[in-house]
Amino acid sequence: MLEQSFYQKADEIIESHGRMQRALIPIIQDIQNEYRYLPPELLSYVAKEIGITEAKAYSVATFYENFSFDPKGKYIIKVCDGTACHVRKSLPILEYLHKELGLSKDKHTTDDMLFTVETVSCLGACGLAPVLTVNEKVYPAMTPEKAGELLAELRGDE
Ligand code: FES
Repeated sequence: MLEQSFYQKADEIIESHGRMQRALIPIIQDIQNEYRYLPPELLSYVAKEIGITEAKAYSVATFYENFSFDPKGKYIIKVCDGTACHVRKSLPILEYLHKELGLSKDKHTTDDMLFTVETVSCLGACGLAPVLTVNEKVYPAMTPEKAGELLAELRGDE
């Protein structure tokens, strides 16, 4: 059960785009930007408010890979495992992050909700391989050691 403030925020976002069926994607994008994920309760709420079925809203949200129904950490680390990054040893970076943060291929987010670690197939920056991003900021030529320094830096921000 979500707190009331989530529905208030959703109302604000719906108002800003207009209560129209065609505003579904921009509305749920803004909700995801706000919470770093798309709470399923809010997707149902938005569907009702703009007059579409829940099934339709779910089919749109699941069609786009960018929408996530799972809560994510404050820092979303995406490790590229596309071909260029893979041959330049992206895997040891991923293994390092998993070990350091107590994560695995089935557990992506730390319990303190600080970090989420995901893999992606190509970040479009192959010349800088191996690459990772933290909340869309690109970090080139990474190594496990540099990833360790980056974690320390991000933790230091807290
Ligand atoms: S393969 Fe990693 S950026 Fe393209």
